[in-house]
Amino acid sequence: MENPIENQHNILDLFENILRRLKEKGIDIRDVSRKDISGVDEFYIRGAEISGELAKEVFLNHSRVLDVGCGLGGSARMLAGDYDCDVTGIDICAEYIKTAQKLSKLVGISDRVKFIHADALKLPFEDKTFDIVWTQHVQMNIENKEKFYSEIKRVLNDEGTLIYYEILKKIWVVLFIRYHGLMTPPSAFYKQFQI
Ligand SMILES: C[S@@+](CC[C@H](N)C(=O)[O-])C[C@H]1O[C@@H](n2cnc3c(N)ncnc32)[C@H](O)[C@@H]1O
Repeated sequence: MENPIENQHNILDLFENILRRLKEKGIDIRDVSRKDISGVDEFYIRGAEISGELAKEVFLNHSRVLDVGCGLGGSARMLAGDYDCDVTGIDICAEYIKTAQKLSKLVGISDRVKFIHADALKLPFEDKTFDIVWTQHVQMNIENKEKFYSEIKRVLNDEGTLIYYEILKKIWVVLFIRYHGLMTPPSAFYKQFQI
């Protein structure tokens, strides 16, 4: 692993550990729901509740969505499961991607969402591939913000939307920031909530 962030996030046999915990909780692993795994697949403040709020801010139906830094894919599965959209998640941590794929199969949604091991700073997609780029609690790991945003801009189509949920300062969480089309400074668009 060349990337220190991947090193930091890498936990081996993650899927097997999750399966073991599900069994310990008495869950039949032939019938696992998204809710059963929600305790492990949402690595962000306020979990599923905030994802539901974010999802209402964008027009998801019939959209091609990219989840940048998708982790174990909780949000990607929520989007693919609750909306009629095509979702791809990427993450720099190979173990997360492997686990995201297995979890999606486990909850029966693997035909609607795919996961690719990739760096946000070098997205493996053609220009203008996506209608929506979605990213939650990833930017604190990324120093080169210019490259991060330029890659997102490249893979979004001209009418595309970037929606993100991030911790930007010690006491502030930005609930959502939307860009339509050209990247412009976000200050005009964002809502801040003190936590
Ligand atoms: C706090 S977790 C959030 C995961 C997921 N977005 C969620 O909300 O559940 C941060 C994620 O960003 C990923 N990450 C960090 N740097 C990255 C990069 N350069 N490219 C892709 N993923 C990255 C990490 O591997 C980790 O999965």
